[in-house]
Amino acid sequence: MQSEIQAKLAKQPLCAGSQIAEADLRQILEKAILAPSGHNWQPWQFRIRQDGVELHIVRQPIMEFIEQDDHARYLSAGAVIENMCISAASLGYSVVAQYFPIPENPLFVAYIRFTGLSPADYHLLDLCHLLDARCTNRGFYDAAQPMDYSKLLTLSQLASQTASTRLVWIGRDTAEFPMVAGLCGRSEQLFFECERGHAEILEGIRFRTESAAMQRDGLDVRTLDLGPMGTAMLKTCRSWNVQTLLNQFGASRLVNFVTQRQIKSSSAVGLVISDSSDHLSVVLSGRVMERIWLVATKLGLSLQPLYAILPLIRYPTSRERFFSASQILAIERMVGDFRMLFGCSESNAQFLFRIGHGCTPKVRSLRKPLASFILTDERSGSSLTESCHNFEPIRTPLSDKLVNTAQLRIEPSEVS
Ligand SMILES: Cc1cc2nc3c(=O)[nH]c(=O)nc-3n(C[C@H](O)[C@H](O)[C@H](O)COP(=O)(O)O)c2cc1C
Repeated sequence: MQSEIQAKLAKQPLCAGSQIAEADLRQILEKAILAPSGHNWQPWQFRIRQDGVELHIVRQPIMEFIEQDDHARYLSAGAVIENMCISAASLGYSVVAQYFPIPENPLFVAYIRFTGLSPADYHLLDLCHLLDARCTNRGFYDAAQPMDYSKLLTLSQLASQTASTRLVWIGRDTAEFPMVAGLCGRSEQLFFECERGHAEILEGIRFRTESAAMQRDGLDVRTLDLGPMGTAMLKTCRSWNVQTLLNQFGASRLVNFVTQRQIKSSSAVGLVISDSSDHLSVVLSGRVMERIWLVATKLGLSLQPLYAILPLIRYPTSRERFFSASQILAIERMVGDFRMLFGCSESNAQFLFRIGHGCTPKVRSLRKPLASFILTDERSGSSLTESCHNFEPIRTPLSDKLVNTAQLRIEPSEVS
């Protein structure tokens, strides 16, 4: 391994500010876009500059309720940066990310430059092959298979290696575990009892294999692992009128029941918590999320995000827009339960997930082609381009927001 690294270093004697070979940059970005994203919306865009790459997030108008503060998009942006660090390492580069270089433009998440591979990043080489292997596993897991708790400890250590994040576990053998399952079940149920939530979930589902293959975003219904009955039922519920009718016969309660069963088939539920709730904390939590997910994959564990509860409990001021008075009361109870179970404020809760031993999913989510994410100056006209067209990243002084990959260190011994 050492001689391999040295060969790479000899090939790429780069220092900050120098250019990266185009073929390498392409490869790094191809791996970057394997990052997970809410509903597989892939809300990112890149602009290639002479000495680096700009990373922007992109808003989809449809996600008005789920994405009230771009939270899930920032998590995904963090995962993109993490993937870039890992794939860059495999090509002999280290990454230096300058976060939010234009404070007035919150969509411009990071300016990313490449230096010669720092020895501090050698451990990333072990993670590169996992970028293709990581995926969301929504099936039932094997509850009978005992969890090796040292694996969960390894994942906790990944979160603790940043100054600002930590990972809290609720294991299946604790009294709180069924309560978390109940809480997540109720959140999913509420989505199917709220017109806006229902629309945002259903909008992203691709019921036809051909449209999933053509659009290459959203959720191919086969990745939901619902079986023929569940898929047929979801399809029937595409119309809100049908959904409300079927809810009278228990359709939304069935969603709650299935969610709880899925969670109870898992070994534990984990929550990444950050010290603060600003945009940078969310992006850094996204990097941690991706590292946890990749290392979990390496350890043979399956993972599914349990995101539905977060938009419900995070935005008290907008609840009246989307929910009835009785639903608001139910959400307020959820907030109390969440705080009690996880011991943190909902605004610092970044990424909730279940983990366990599952079978490898048969169908994987696709990604749009890299070219569709590359922002060129000819494409100006979008607000994204306008908002940063005067930016000259080469001359931008590195601020205190400059964060080297070394700030998210994982020691090789902990992941091998
Ligand atoms: C912030 C975030 C929230 C997500 N929430 C959920 C969720 O609540 N339920 C779920 O099944 N998958 C969830 N996912 C997983 C995405 O749907 C998944 O990453 C995407 O479809 C791409 O598939 P892949 O992870 O298999 O590559 C979430 C992912 C992210 C990054």
